[in-house]
Amino acid sequence: MEKFYITTPIYYVNDVPHIGHAYTTIAADILSRYNRLKGNNVFFLTGTDEHGQKVEKAAQGRGLSPKEHADIMVENFKSLWKKLNISNDAFIRTTDPEHIKTVQGLIQLLRNNGEIEKRQYAGWYCTPDERFWTEKDLVEGNCPDCGRPVEQIQEENYFFLMSKYQDRLIKYIEDNPSYILPETRRNEVLGFLNNNTLGDLCISRPKARLAWGIPFPFDEAFVTYVWFDALVNYFSATKYLATPLNPPLVRGGWGGDWWPAEHHLVGKDILTTHAVYWSTMLMALDFPLPKNIFAHGWWTVDGKKMSKSIGNVVDPNEMVKKYGVDAFRYFLFREVPFGLDGNFSEDALINRTNTDLANDLGNLLSRFLAMAEKYFNGAIEKLSDPPGDFAKQCADANHNVHHNDQNWSQLRFNHILDAIWEIIRAGNNHIAQKEPWKLAKSDIEELKRVMFNLWNALRLTAVSLYPFMPETAEKMWKQLGLRSLTEEAGDKNIFTWEWKPGYEIKVQKGEQLFPRIEVKKEMQKSDEQKPPVGANGRSLLQNEGDNLISIEDFAKVQLKIGKVLQAERVPKSSKLIKLQVDTGEPRQVVAGIGQAYAPEDLIGKSIAVVTNLKPVKLMGVESQGMLLAATDSDGVLSILIPEKNVKEGAKIK
Ligand code: MSP
Repeated sequence: MEKFYITTPIYYVNDVPHIGHAYTTIAADILSRYNRLKGNNVFFLTGTDEHGQKVEKAAQGRGLSPKEHADIMVENFKSLWKKLNISNDAFIRTTDPEHIKTVQGLIQLLRNNGEIEKRQYAGWYCTPDERFWTEKDLVEGNCPDCGRPVEQIQEENYFFLMSKYQDRLIKYIEDNPSYILPETRRNEVLGFLNNNTLGDLCISRPKARLAWGIPFPFDEAFVTYVWFDALVNYFSATKYLATPLNPPLVRGGWGGDWWPAEHHLVGKDILTTHAVYWSTMLMALDFPLPKNIFAHGWWTVDGKKMSKSIGNVVDPNEMVKKYGVDAFRYFLFREVPFGLDGNFSEDALINRTNTDLANDLGNLLSRFLAMAEKYFNGAIEKLSDPPGDFAKQCADANHNVHHNDQNWSQLRFNHILDAIWEIIRAGNNHIAQKEPWKLAKSDIEELKRVMFNLWNALRLTAVSLYPFMPETAEKMWKQLGLRSLTEEAGDKNIFTWEWKPGYEIKVQKGEQLFPRIEVKKEMQKSDEQKPPVGANGRSLLQNEGDNLISIEDFAKVQLKIGKVLQAERVPKSSKLIKLQVDTGEPRQVVAGIGQAYAPEDLIGKSIAVVTNLKPVKLMGVESQGMLLAATDSDGVLSILIPEKNVKEGAKIK
């Protein structure tokens, strides 16, 4: 049994939770549930960040004390986590007395070790961000982060001597390739550290200016900088919120302890505070560093940054009410690779639910159950035949779900879901090929085999989906005639094709997993009465009339199928990916798809390429062609892939 300690950021209580908060917390839940299912000893921590200027101001605005305000706001997070089926083991609040004591103890320790100094300090201060900036950091005299005005402040403060750890931190990140993930973020942090001189970190605030913070242990005139206080939560929680490990695990001098964490999950905006402040704080304390800090991307909504003023902030409570918790959880991790930015739209969520969940998954289960009841009264005979093609196909895909450690350690949730959907699609194809309704008349033994194999594919699907959609997985498990999925946790064999329950299998049809979501009826009705319209609202015929081309014009464009052999990002570009493609001849293609795809997602894919374009240079890199991709009005981008296997070099006509 291994220990697995995972954290989310602790969320500010100045506002209500939104999709961004839900995103990280569900990701941590997926990893926690997966690890529990594997029999690991899990500690999953989330919580709230309750000190600092932001919270003080929000409380003042409501005429409450900061603590009264926090006590109310914290409930919004706790109740949302319940609705989202978040299985956190603990919830830390930075106003917990035990946390306060730990922060003070660590500051004292650093002071005793000569890691903290008092200095006169003058700088530009951004009040909303609670950060000092130097003159050269400012952008047109404003905060480089949020663009708001800054104030010149001069005062005495305590500094953590962070600068002396710069070289050690660079070396640590270089020596530990998975310390910061994804790799692009790791390179950004390294680039920042290699090209800038790290300053010391101001970790106090004079009480006269900010009263709402943890009192400095050896100087009453100061409180602790909110980020120093907040980061320590990851350590302090292990001291008073986690049950002691039993049997104690011995790891690098910290016998029986939960620290260090396996993953800190954070959004890309708070990577520096974790990768630089927290790492150097730990170095100064001589504590082990976490195994990994993973920075995920940001959600935009209908193509725009979420903001209260635009009024486009997505309330996860609302999404759960409208579409159900599992459809929402699934969508967030299926739609966008974890690590990249993504665009949220309800249309895309509905689309995913209807195609992947209602059609692919829901249909497979309901067709299987209906046949099992019709042909065998629900009884499924457990067979031990050597695996045929279908079983092999499922077992291969299953291998990618459970035994491809890279997928889990690098948090490639969308790859894992891809592999699960291979099993589901294979199941639907198997029904189409085997035509069980014919076998029922001609070959009952073969029908038994088909039904057992389908049962097994669905069982593996349920196990694999459990971390992502726990309610759905449990429902499937029961309908498949099994007892309790979570009770089987720890039995490693349930991840394999060979596993069978020790009791008779009798399946039971239950409620439909995902009823199709009907797009607003009124909209459809009024649309039916109109001629078909294009995206700009004009009649399609009118549209085409403007720009019709002849077949000869079209024939000038050479299009071929190409296989992607290699893919990597173009340095300093968030959009461009450089691909080495075999289109019958090798060629290099640079494509602007880096926000929708990770390079590793593209390798091995067959794509459509325009092969007779004049070569151009994009950010200094030559592109000998263009790949075809579609973008819809929600900004969802998809490359075009042939429906069947066709050889590279095949002409598209
Ligand atoms: N309190 C600090 C974290 C301290 S951790 C020791 C904080 N809190 S926060 O409430 O402002 O933000 C928490 C998280 O929400 C961050 O990881 C941030 O990246 C994430 N998100 C905020 N908006 C987001 C999106 N639009 N999309 C995805 N995540 C986003 O920062």
